[in-house]
Amino acid sequence: MSTLLLLLLLAYSELANSSQLVHRSEFQHKNIFILAGQSNMAGRGGVIGDKWDGIVPPECQLNPSILRLNARLGWEQAREPIHADIDVNKTCGIGPGMAFANAIQEMDTNIGVVGLVPCAIGGTNISEWSRGMSLYNELVKRATVALESGGTIRAILWYQGESDTVSRVDAESYKVKLETFFLDLRSDLQSPRLPIIQVALASGQGPFVETVREAQLGLHLPNVLCVDAKGSQLEPDGLHLTTLAQVRLGQILAQEFIETLQNPMAIVQNASPASRSLGLMYLYLGSIWRCFVTYNIVVLII
Ligand SMILES: *[C@@H]1O[C@H](CO)[C@@H](O)[C@H](O)[C@H]1NC(C)=O
Ligand SMILES: *[C@@H]1O[C@H](CO)[C@@H](O)[C@H](O)[C@H]1NC(C)=O
Repeated sequence: MSTLLLLLLLAYSELANSSQLVHRSEFQHKNIFILAGQSNMAGRGGVIGDKWDGIVPPECQLNPSILRLNARLGWEQAREPIHADIDVNKTCGIGPGMAFANAIQEMDTNIGVVGLVPCAIGGTNISEWSRGMSLYNELVKRATVALESGGTIRAILWYQGESDTVSRVDAESYKVKLETFFLDLRSDLQSPRLPIIQVALASGQGPFVETVREAQLGLHLPNVLCVDAKGSQLEPDGLHLTTLAQVRLGQILAQEFIETLQNPMAIVQNASPASRSLGLMYLYLGSIWRCFVTYNIVVLII
């Protein structure tokens, strides 16, 4: 009996919490984004030697319209580091998620509530994400729970592959595994055209980075876009994107989502690979991107 009471109380407080965050009807129309992959999606920006510097740039600040599905499967206001209770065995810092969500809010002021579903785990290879494995199951479970309180999964953001650059065999089988993973996921989420924005590697744990990048950039599936992170500023470990680089990546992911996936016509028009000059990108992001860094991002629309 007392357990039941406690559960009811807990349920009530969750409800009270969430209605404080956002208006109820708005909450039911969440724009849900799944964040998955390994460390650079989980976020290591500002982490040096297992310690996060605690610096949250303005582009990653709290926003009452940005929620996060926490590890207990409850929605709460998102705050950095958004993977802290998910990628629990590592020190998390800044990833692309909050910058992405804030940029989406700036670019489309009518979009409403953004619900982030962090699922990335550091050091994981593509085989561990295949259908039936625990990471895959966890992703599908979190995505399913995220939908229960209302909303639509608008896209999956995927940044993974550093762990598959160590052996030639792994790198050479990456493309098939990645494609299978995307197709399985869409099928299990019952959304055959679910938009996916993947990030082509900026770094890797082994010598076969280019092989994995070729697989990522050469993946031709409808509604799968690829943003190239090559040239991103890295932490001293040579593997992880800095906070600044993560902010920029989040903003470019947002730009891709708004420009291409929000507008189905654009996908038809941009059916072949296209690249945009850095200059145009700066013009476009001028209002939110203030720092000039030597950066070499090319966006491929596949
Ligand atoms: C963390 O480490 C524990 C013990 O090794 C393991 O059981 C668990 O699966 C790990 N969790 C994650 C999210 O990596
Ligand atoms: C992927 O990682 C797991 C866990 O570390 C390991 O057991 C497995 O051999 C790896 N698979 C490949 C293909 O590298």
